[in-house]
Amino acid sequence: MLSSPWRSDFPALAVMEAQGEVYLDSAATAQKPQALISALTGYYTSGAANVHRAQHASAERATRAFEGTRTKLASWLNAAEPTEIIFTRGATEALNLLAYGMEAHIDAGDEIAITALEHHANLLPWQQLAQRRNAHLVVLPLDKAGHIDLEAATQLIGPRTRVLAASQLSNVLGTQQPLHRLLPLAKAQGALTVVDGAQGIVHQRTDVRSLGCDFYVLSSHKLYGPEGVGVLYGRREALARLRHWQFGGEMVQLAEFQHAQFRPAPLGFEAGTPPIAGVIGLGAVLDYLGGLDQAALAAHEHRLHRMLVDGLAMRDGIRLLGRPDCALASFTVEGVHPADLSHLLTEQGVAVRSGTHCAMPLMGRLGVSGAIRASLAFYNDGADLEVFFCALDRALELLR
Ligand SMILES: Cc1ncc(COP(=O)(O)O)c(C=O)c1O
Repeated sequence: MLSSPWRSDFPALAVMEAQGEVYLDSAATAQKPQALISALTGYYTSGAANVHRAQHASAERATRAFEGTRTKLASWLNAAEPTEIIFTRGATEALNLLAYGMEAHIDAGDEIAITALEHHANLLPWQQLAQRRNAHLVVLPLDKAGHIDLEAATQLIGPRTRVLAASQLSNVLGTQQPLHRLLPLAKAQGALTVVDGAQGIVHQRTDVRSLGCDFYVLSSHKLYGPEGVGVLYGRREALARLRHWQFGGEMVQLAEFQHAQFRPAPLGFEAGTPPIAGVIGLGAVLDYLGGLDQAALAAHEHRLHRMLVDGLAMRDGIRLLGRPDCALASFTVEGVHPADLSHLLTEQGVAVRSGTHCAMPLMGRLGVSGAIRASLAFYNDGADLEVFFCALDRALELLR
């Protein structure tokens, strides 16, 4: 039986197990390691303080730890410098920041390219920007497996393309996108490139410079960190092209009643008190993750994923959405409503997600109204999948 050597690092899993619950919904949010819990407790029990504002000892401690996470993230992503890292309140906010920040570069008739598999967080900000500026939202289609169709992309990305925004790993299909070949198409047209790495960063270390993107977005709570924290990486020259979008404390250099001058990135894009404990906690998570054997972790996730996909493939009437490369599998069952199936799985203690997974247009293109998604993390083990498949068989017996 495949066991996870890292399972005991996540205290909630033992509690869930004792309650008969199996967690297969990590793509929605991940369970948290003890390293995070200790860092949050440590911060709150040693004196909370605001960052960048005061000189007293606890403020200095908090600022050092907060900025320490920025430095860790820069090295985690191989950014050129820590000032290329901006903290937001989630991946969604980071993408909205970009869509507002780039507004001045979009004119009527310009094009913004996204892909057919985007999460609403990487669709709606661009759709709304296109509407505000009378621009066109161009949707790059997928091939049958669920990867961006590069031939079609070559035709659709052109001289009016100003922005290309694409996911690294689909939260519905589990397909890794061919960004190394896609991004150069946009760059050749002088467009800015945005990568939504909310799912991708969880399953692969990403080097933003070798990827060659202008912007990269990630979500702390999916990367085993706390909620309320998102990260925006921006290449220095690309960040300099963004307009400020939220206004308030600490993002301003000089404020008068009728006029103000704003700071450059990163602080110019971090208006108001940031999620201090969360950012410090994310730093502790990066330390924890950095200490794990990456090859062993990837091999474990790969084996688990094979078990999941093979187990689904061997059952009658199950349609897998796309050909998932890693992390998750979404599926429908002939003649069975996903909500009914998810209800029966929940009753048996299996936590999966059912619905449109914040990707309604993709569901439309796939011709389904919803799907069940089972998603994995390195703390899952073979026993979790055994429970899942037993519960699935029992539920399907009842429903068919
Ligand atoms: C691909 C993708 N992008 C963006 C998001 C939004 O992330 P957050 O919840 O941190 O705003 C999600 C969350 O499910 C996602 O899966």
